Amino acid sequence: MSEALDRLGRRFARLTTEAVVARPGLWLLFRGPLRAQFDRLASVWEGRLGPEALAPLAAALDRVPPPARALDLGTGTGKGARLVAERFPEAEVLGADLSPAMISTARRLLSPELAGRVTFEVADASRLPFADGTFDLVVLLNMIPFFDELARVTARGGALVVTYSLGPATPIWVPPGTLRERLAPLGFGGFEELQAGTGTAVLAIRR
Ligand SMILES: C[S@@+](CC[C@H](N)C(=O)[O-])C[C@H]1O[C@@H](n2cnc3c(N)ncnc32)[C@H](O)[C@@H]1O
Repeated sequence: MSEALDRLGRRFARLTTEAVVARPGLWLLFRGPLRAQFDRLASVWEGRLGPEALAPLAAALDRVPPPARALDLGTGTGKGARLVAERFPEAEVLGADLSPAMISTARRLLSPELAGRVTFEVADASRLPFADGTFDLVVLLNMIPFFDELARVTARGGALVVTYSLGPATPIWVPPGTLRERLAPLGFGGFEELQAGTGTAVLAIRR
């Protein structure tokens, strides 16, 4: 992919994030183009950022209790889901993503050791096909938050981790203050902000 096209894609991802965080109803307009963008990127996504991209998620996972069921939302090629599964050997982990090509790649990259506990499925974070309170850990790694659904599927007492690998330079980026403002009225508290490597994480508990 040319550098110019890549830059355009990053701008579109940022525009989509800002629009949808401000007005979630706009997602209907952005959904198709964003899915097509990530379908196109699926074959090269895994090698895009190095292991340091996971530093903020790893730091946040040090601070959460071991979950029984965890969700990595906007999993892409499954990096976050694999890290959660490695960190918590008792957990069942689901990686969900809008892009069928990302999910196919995530399934292909899964090691036999993790295959019994980690599954991947196509799902839209704006309307998740999971019952209320299904997950006691929900992680977003470089992903647009859909706040109502995050509150709905996170179990009471469960943890939410929202991380951005390049901090404010991440194309999909939501400032920590905005995350707090939007999550607190939905029943999240105990906020912590972390920095690790080049990235940031916000950790919250669903009350
Ligand atoms: C920037 S990528 C991050 C992928 C992965 N978490 C990582 O950091 O390597 C964002 C991912 O979120 C997915 N995504 C965007 N909007 C979504 C939605 N509404 N529901 C589910 N996945 C979504 C995209 O398809 C893409 O795979």
